[in-house]
Parts: sequence; C-alpha cells; structure tokens
Amino acid sequence: MEMPSLTIGDRTARLPIIQGGMAVRISMAPLATAVASAGGIGVIAGSGLGVSELAQEVRRARAATDGVIGVNVMVAVRKFADLVKAAIAEGVDIVIAGAGFSRDVFDWTREAGVPMVPIVGSERVARLAQKFGAAAVIVEGREAGGHLGTDESVRDLLPRIVDAVDVPVIAAGNIVTGADIRDMLAMGASGVQMGSRFAATVESSASDEFKRMYVAATDDDVIIVKSPVGLPGRALRNPFTDALARGDYPAIESCVACLKACGKDYCIIDKLQKAQTGDVIDGLVFAGQSVTRIHDLPTVRELIDRLRSEFQAATQEAAS
Ligand SMILES: Cc1cc2nc3c(=O)[nH]c(=O)nc-3n(C[C@H](O)[C@H](O)[C@H](O)COP(=O)(O)O)c2cc1C
Repeated sequence: MEMPSLTIGDRTARLPIIQGGMAVRISMAPLATAVASAGGIGVIAGSGLGVSELAQEVRRARAATDGVIGVNVMVAVRKFADLVKAAIAEGVDIVIAGAGFSRDVFDWTREAGVPMVPIVGSERVARLAQKFGAAAVIVEGREAGGHLGTDESVRDLLPRIVDAVDVPVIAAGNIVTGADIRDMLAMGASGVQMGSRFAATVESSASDEFKRMYVAATDDDVIIVKSPVGLPGRALRNPFTDALARGDYPAIESCVACLKACGKDYCIIDKLQKAQTGDVIDGLVFAGQSVTRIHDLPTVRELIDRLRSEFQAATQEAAS
C-alpha cells in the first residue's frame, strides 16, 4: 500500500510527512523546498531569524516549488507576531507554533485563510487548540529533538489525543523509517513530523560537523539539557553540555532579547548558531532519541523513496 496523502485545512500534501521546523537555520528554504517537491510538507524554522531573513526564505521556497511549505515559529520568541505575519505575507501554506500557546495567532491565520497547526503535549491543550480553530495538531513526545513540552512518550500520548479531538493529529518523536510511519498511522495519526532524520540530509543547512555527529551518535550521547527558553531540550553530549552539567554556564556576550522571557543561563541562539555553522564543541547540537538509528546522509529524494518502500514492506508484513 502507498502512503496516504495528508490534508490540513484546504492544503493537501501527497505524503503524510511533515519535515519538522528546526532552528536556528537547520531547516531553511533548500530543505523545505526539497521535501515539498518530493510530496511532503517542507517547513522553514523562523525562530532565531530576523523578519526580513524569514520573509526571504519563504519567498525562495515559494518560487522553487508548488508543494506545501510551512513555517514554524516558537511562541516564546519575542518577534513571534512579526515573523508569523511576514511568512503569511509571503504566501506560506501552513503556520506551525510550539513552545507556548498563542490565542492571537489563530486570528492572524484565520484572517489570511492559512491553516494553523499548534504543537501540543496534552489532551487539554489539544482541545483548546481545536476550540480556537486549529486545522490539525502535532503531538510531540519526549523522544523528540529540541525543546520538549512533555515527559510522555508519543506512543502513550497519541491515542489519547486522537480520541480528544476531531482534527487530524500528527505524531512526532523518534520516527525515522517507513515502518515507524506505518506504526503511527495504525495508531490513529493522520501523518508524522520528522526532525532529526531530515537534519541529516544533504539539503539540511546544518554544518558537515553537525551532520557527522548525528551519524556517529550512540545511546550514551543523547542527553537532556536545560534551556533558557524554560523547557528541557534533547541534544547530543559534547564539551559544552558537559560544562552545563557541571553548572558551569558561559557568560552571555551580547543579548538581543530574542525571547519573551529568558532564563539567561546562557545564550541559546549563540549556542545553536555555533553548532549550525560547525562548532560542535562549544555549540548546542539538538537531536532526538532517533539519532542513534540514523547512519547516513541521503538526499531528501533518496530518503523519501526509502521511506515509501519501507512503508509498503511494513504494511504488507502487517497484513500477512
Ligand atoms: C536540530 C533541531 C532543531 C529543532 N528546532 C525546532 C524549532 O525551532 N521549533 C520546533 O517547534 N521544533 C523544533 N525541533 C523539533 C522538530 O521540529 C521535530 O518535532 C522533532 O525533531 C521530532 O523528533 P525527531 O527528531 O525524533 O524526529 C527541532 C528538532 C531538532 C532535531
């Protein structure tokens, strides 16, 4: 069986795969365009970008593909409203928001006719999102990479959220193969969001050093760090995270007040940017639990072809 399509509001992608937004500058126009062209939903991460930089990325992606392009912005970011509005003005198809809950974003997206998809970690927030007009919800479990909003596994959360709402539910966290996608759809998901697997592709804007760290990672390397955003984050262990574990926080060299409320333990933008540009010793390499099952750096097209055949094989096996 071929993978089913995924409809969110009035937008339909041929494949039920969302490439998760990954800040800072990991999922930019090249990755989002490749995913959208291959039939999935390509997502540009807006957190940590300037408003004109995000607008330019959306414009580049929009010009390069007719596929479905989304933008992901964390509610915790100070320029949240300006970033979302700029992406809408450039013709983005879908807005995704996590790390907090914004009521206002439902008004901005409704007025523009753009589907709004919040990331949720409980039935209560999923119901609230539906009430405000969410076109779908993404349920992200504790296995996921980046900031974490729950300590529950996606496998425990997903069935409860599917029961709690009528809109499509997208599962995220520890999904890297076509068999994983089949499992999530069998549990009631309408689609999946995959982050780490797409960070380790040719088109991802992560540095080669970042990608090499992914391919080499083992179980002992995957850790939880404290983030000044106020949420725990899943990342790869390195000298920087070892220093954090010792309570040795680096001084903040300059601050642009990028977050609405910052814990000021260290500068998260600086550390994420360092990793993205190649300093994986002193930077922060966000990664999901799934990173230990990632062993290569395919192109997006190769990855999607593989996911489709793995999905078919898993579906046949489950039916026999
Ligand atoms: C490097 C990296 C950066 C991320 N940045 C963001 C982000 O800016 N906003 C967000 O909502 N999620 C972010 N995430 C989470 C992903 O969008 C996705 O939900 C998650 O990676 C799914 O888990 P997986 O990595 O096991 O596939 C990030 C994940 C990674 C690995």
